Amino acid sequence: MKTNEIYKLAVQMGIEADFRGKEGVARFLKRKNKKYEKLANKEKEEFDKDALGNPFLDSRILNIAEDKEIKKIMVGIDIEPAELLLAKEVGNIDLIISHHPLGKGLAHLAEVMDLQCDVLNRYGVPINIAEGLMKQRISEVARGVNGANHQRTVDAAKILKFNLICLHTACDNLAARFLREKIENKNVERIEDLMEILKEIPEYKEAAKIGAGPKVYVGSGDNRCGKIALSEITGGTEGSPKLYEKMAQAGIGTVVGMHISEEHKKEAEAANINVVIAGHISSDSLGVNLFLDELEKKGIEIIPCSGLIRVKR
Ligand SMILES: [Fe+2]
Repeated sequence: MKTNEIYKLAVQMGIEADFRGKEGVARFLKRKNKKYEKLANKEKEEFDKDALGNPFLDSRILNIAEDKEIKKIMVGIDIEPAELLLAKEVGNIDLIISHHPLGKGLAHLAEVMDLQCDVLNRYGVPINIAEGLMKQRISEVARGVNGANHQRTVDAAKILKFNLICLHTACDNLAARFLREKIENKNVERIEDLMEILKEIPEYKEAAKIGAGPKVYVGSGDNRCGKIALSEITGGTEGSPKLYEKMAQAGIGTVVGMHISEEHKKEAEAANINVVIAGHISSDSLGVNLFLDELEKKGIEIIPCSGLIRVKR
């Protein structure tokens, strides 16, 4: 497989696992294409053409130094110039994959957050409310990443002549589907039962050994779960804190997420929603692993680094 094929496989798998369904993603892309067609020529030049076929703009090809057959890859949750130097030391690395977005993937992080509106709607939050509250948060995230040194690692990859891609929401979607299948419609009664299920997942088991396992942030083990929503595993980054009240009104009792800010936690508490934090890097690892299994089946050797807890399935 070449870099482009690996990238395309990730996007394809991300689409298949998407909460919106394949049809929902197709509709999303169709709208993007229609909008593009309507643009004036000058605007078309500025338009990010990746958006016409890739619904996950935080997952990108960042540098192709040599378009060769990929046999050995280094994969990490965060790739910085340090990891590139590490790859140079290891030697014979054909491609480096970062989970967290870099370069134009980072600059466009906010654009995948629209997915959260559909996820919330799936759990019963009216679409107008989800869209209204997310719109504000999406622009906040867009401004937040605007000041970053987006190209730092990409520049290092160019200097060291490494192929580099980032796969963020494409992989988070795989984690979200995996957890959904494990948890939803299983009649999980109490938070402690939910914790048991999570703790059986190898990535979380491994994270627990260093004190980063699943934790109850709001509520307690004795609490009943009610309706569980996997609404904070994929879709870029945290949504609006104002959503918890609306989620409670929509009948959600428990939210399972990767991480949560203090402000979000307080709002969840006020809305009486239980919050179980499965773990950030461990949840990221879960999604990346589900993709890497496919690469390994094709004979690609994987060197995990930068927090990636590699588990094969
Ligand atoms: Fe992450």
